Parts: sequence; structure tokens; C-alpha cells
Amino acid sequence: MTAPCKILVVFGTRPEAIKLFPVIAALKADPRFEPVVCVSAQHRQMLDQVLEIAGIVPDHDLDLMRPDQSLDALTAALLTELGKVMDKAQPARVIVQGDTATAMAGALAAYYRKVPVDHVEAGLRSGNIYHPWPEEVNRKIIGQIASLHFAPTDVSAKALTDEKVDPARVHVTGNTVIDALQWVTQRIAAEPQFAAGLAEIEARFAGKRIIGVTSHRRENFGGGLENIAEAVRQIAARPDIAVIFPVHLNPNVRAVMHGALGGLANVALIEPLDYPNFARLLAIAEVMLTDSGGVQEEAPALGKPVLVMRETTERPEGVIAGTAKLVGTDTQTIVTEMFNLLDDKAAYEAMARAHNPFGDGHSARRIVELLGNEIAQ
Ligand code: UD1
Ligand code: UDP
Repeated sequence: MTAPCKILVVFGTRPEAIKLFPVIAALKADPRFEPVVCVSAQHRQMLDQVLEIAGIVPDHDLDLMRPDQSLDALTAALLTELGKVMDKAQPARVIVQGDTATAMAGALAAYYRKVPVDHVEAGLRSGNIYHPWPEEVNRKIIGQIASLHFAPTDVSAKALTDEKVDPARVHVTGNTVIDALQWVTQRIAAEPQFAAGLAEIEARFAGKRIIGVTSHRRENFGGGLENIAEAVRQIAARPDIAVIFPVHLNPNVRAVMHGALGGLANVALIEPLDYPNFARLLAIAEVMLTDSGGVQEEAPALGKPVLVMRETTERPEGVIAGTAKLVGTDTQTIVTEMFNLLDDKAAYEAMARAHNPFGDGHSARRIVELLGNEIAQ
């Protein structure tokens, strides 16, 4: 029997961990592969929350997060330290996910060693290199390097072939976030205690209409975040509404949100939720208001309308289907769109349809099969 293919799975942030744990589990279950997990820990606490829930113990942990890290210092450290791990582990292939600094540097370090890179969640494009920033360029760089491109949808596959990527290397697999969401939802159904962290807040806000909010985008620092905070303040001023807002640990986000919203009776500003408790928030919220990428995929899958606080999106599938709406970061527009949605039953019903263009929950299995075909050649 030939030795299993050593495949280095590199990630560093909360959303990468959520979207890669199903892939790691599928690789572990397949004797053709020897997965080795390397976390940059570009995030620390928010990454560790996911590792713990998913039962992943990394083989390499670079512990690279620094408070308020700059993109250049972070990227330089990632490139150097990920390169050292690759030299030591000598993987046959490297997997990266999405468009973070870790994913981009992981792909580049592998390329410098001529190790093939496989890209999970390939081909997302907004068409604007500053929205989202710096992710649009990160994923374009990875797109230039990758060996296999696992595109979540036809839209993302087409974006790659439009950029002259060989169509034979592009595969539509669905997004592994749906695998993760289904796993966590089933686990909560079997063990409700797994997601009981919001019980006190739910009791405090009983009878109110719950809005779930998240915000963290770097391109919104310096103006956009203040507008978002003011919109949340105005929305929560209505007595029938309550906002649950798990605040990202980025100090730029925390300063603005705690400054503007701390102490408001109808706003629960809370620490980042672990994945099961965030799934619970998605379940109890009437609307999600977010600038997150992952939440744009999860909310429609659960039939929750999502108002996206961005100018453009690389995930047009939800907008096209009518389950997501771009509202930008203008305070008045956000407030008006939110009240329209809450006060117009027909408008709400039109958006609140379970819609799942992003995957069927079998994406990880598909990705591992494609990798198996690749190494058999
Ligand atoms: C990063 C990704 C972004 C992704 C987001 C998901 C880049 C350039 N950005 O943005 O694409 O959408 O993660 O959340 O790769 N911090 C903590 N603890 C944590 C995590 C963050 O304290 O667990 C604080 C630190 O001060 C850190 C700062 O947040 O320096 C920023 O973290 P960083 O990973 O650089 O950027 P994000 O804004 O989280
Ligand atoms: N999420 C979480 N806890 C929270 C907020 C978000 O577990 O308090 C999950 C969410 O379900 C989604 C992912 O984190 O899967 C999105 O991460 P984030 O918004 O930080 O990054 P993005 O998707 O924008 O890159």
C-alpha cells in the first residue's frame, strides 16, 4: 500500500475554522490522506472557540495574533512562519480556505516551495479591490496559485473561468459552511444545552422582536462603523425591538460599538458567541444585520432575511434570490430598510424563505473525493 498523502491544512481565523472543520473530518476519515493541521492563530480566542467545539487539536500552532495587528506585520510573520512549518512537515499538498491573510500567505509560502495548493471557497469576487479589503486581492492571489479550485457555486466557478483559470481545475462543490451549519444544528437538536448560552438574554428580551447584528469589516473603520452603530441605536430605540450584538474582538470595532451602544436597555452587546450559540442567535433572530461573509450564507439557509451592510458583495446568490439585501453603511438607509422589513409583512415573507444556493451539506465529502482523484493520477 502506498503511503497516505500528507496534506497540510492551514488556517487562522474563526470563519476559516468553521468552514474547514468538515473538510478536516472528511480527510481524517479517508485512509488515502494524512491531514496535518497548522493554525496561524491570526485570531486567538475566536479561533480557539471553534477548535474546541470541533475537537481539533492543531499539529502546529504559530500563535501569531498581536493586538490590533497591521496587515503588513501580520502578513510578513505569516509568510515566514508558515514557510518554516512547510519545510519541517514536507506536505505533498496544502489546503487554504477563503481570503484571509493566513490563506493568502499560506498559498504563497506553498508556491515558493512548489507545493500544490488547493483552494476551498474559490472564485468569490466583488469586482472591487477595496470591498472587501483586503480580501478581494487575497483571493485573487490565491486564484493565481491554486491547483484545484473548489468553487461553492456556479457563479464563483464562472468568475474563475472568466479569469482564464483552466475549467478542468475548477469544481463546484457547494460551500462547506452548510456542512458546518447542519452539523451544529443537528447537535443542538440532540443536546439543547450545547447552545444554551443566550437563555438569560432571551428571558430579558421576551416578547420583543430580536435583531441579530455582527460587524467587523476593515473597510468600514473610520466612518462606516460609526454609521452602523448609530443605525443600531436608532433601530433599538423602538420599544418592540431588541438587538443582540456579539462584538468582534477587533479593538477598532469594540471601541466604536461599546462607546455608542454600551448601556442601552434594548441592546445586548456581548462577547463573540461560540458557533452553537451563534446558530441559536440565527434561529431566534427575525432579521440579521451584518457585514459578515459567512452570515450571508447561513442566514438564508435558515430562512432568515439578511440586510448586508456593504456596498458590494461577492455572494450575489442571496441577493439574486431575494433573501439578502445590500444596504451599505449609510445610517438612514439601514434604519429605513430595517423598519420597512419589520413593518411590511409581505416584504418580510418574501425575504424569509429558506434558500440554500451555497451548498447541500455534502461539500466536504465532494472536496475529498476530488482530492482523491487528483492524487490517484
Ligand atoms: C480577519 C480577516 C477577515 C475575516 C475576519 C473574520 C484578514 C486581513 N482579515 O479580520 O478577512 O473576515 O478575520 O472575523 O485576514 N482579535 C482578538 N482576538 C481574536 C481575534 C481578533 O483579540 O480572537 C483582535 C486582535 O487585536 C487582532 C484584531 O482583532 O489584532 C484583528 O484581527 P485580524 O485577524 O487581523 O483581523 P480581523 O478584522 O479579525
Ligand atoms: N460567528 C460565530 N460567533 C459570533 C459571530 C459569528 O460563531 O459571535 C460565526 C458565524 O456563524 C459565521 C462566521 O462566524 O460562520 C463568520 O465569521 P466572521 O463574520 O467573523 O467572518 P467572515 O465570514 O466575514 O469572514
